[in-house]
Amino acid sequence: MTTYTASISMSDPNAEHYLLAPHERASPVKPREKATNVKFDRDHRETIGEYTSASARIRCRNVDVFYGEKPAVQDINLDIGNNQVIALIGPSGCGKSTFLRCLNRMNDTIQDCRVTGDISMDGKPIYGQDVDVVPLRAQVGMVFQKPNPFPKSIFENVAYGPRIHGLVNAKSELEEIVEKSLRRAGLWDEVKDRLAQPGTGLSGGQQQRLCIARTIAVNPEVILMDEPCSALDPIATAKIEQLIDELRELYTIVIVTHSMQQAARVSQRTAYFHLGHLIEVGETAQVFTHPQHQLTEDYITGRFG
Ligand SMILES: Nc1ncnc2c1ncn2[C@@H]1O[C@H](COP(=O)(O)OP(=O)(O)O)[C@@H](O)[C@H]1O
Ligand SMILES: [Mg+2]
Repeated sequence: MTTYTASISMSDPNAEHYLLAPHERASPVKPREKATNVKFDRDHRETIGEYTSASARIRCRNVDVFYGEKPAVQDINLDIGNNQVIALIGPSGCGKSTFLRCLNRMNDTIQDCRVTGDISMDGKPIYGQDVDVVPLRAQVGMVFQKPNPFPKSIFENVAYGPRIHGLVNAKSELEEIVEKSLRRAGLWDEVKDRLAQPGTGLSGGQQQRLCIARTIAVNPEVILMDEPCSALDPIATAKIEQLIDELRELYTIVIVTHSMQQAARVSQRTAYFHLGHLIEVGETAQVFTHPQHQLTEDYITGRFG
């Protein structure tokens, strides 16, 4: 039988913090004085760890998402920091994709899906009535699990976005953007001699890098990736992980992954979700080596999910 440990100890410097509602909190979480084996117990649902970020590009406060009447994620408070990779991890069905799709209003495309709470990008509410989702989805681009190039040439896959967003005037400018985007996605050398061939003819890993190039071509600031390597072999996965590390200098990246090794390799911050709740968030190394919540520990030690 499992013995559950005590939840909030009054010797915890953060005890008061966790007892207040997020909007009542004066200061961010203070570091614990020393590592302790006492975990927040499995029933504790308030997010543990520092969910704010001094360099926040995106700020989420009290975000709930429903499919019809059914809540899928509840009361999420999280900042997405600039030029960082944040990994969203947790068991299947815990709401990672649902939450990710909130960040560029991709949930708008799902019937019966309703988002409440506040999400802002650089201080501007993204669910405001005046917000045009087309430029929003260029600014906050998305890469999906299964590579999904358009049934067009490699060149056209990358050129399509800049053209429809009116980012270019001359053909030479377009060629420049295509080359730059393919270079940034680490694909240029492999495709420069066959730009007119169909994107769908590339290998899976190349197709995923083509999709990343397509996202980059419209000048995003944030890139959302939903399990971008789960359809790829280990070598293609390693290339994408290397690429994510390079792209972090230029972009802010949110990646959903079911691989804890991947989260540990590519991210600086990790957020652990469980049954629609954001359970714990913190520096990746800290979350993996000293999780503060029993549920996080259960997951990373393979006891759950
Ligand atoms: N389009 C949808 N319609 C209804 N329910 C959905 C839909 N997409 C996801 N859900 C439900 O929302 C919850 C969270 O799902 P999801 O965000 O896909 O989780 P994850 O990405 O962590 O596996 C699950 O209970 C799932 O069944
Ligand atoms: Mg998912």
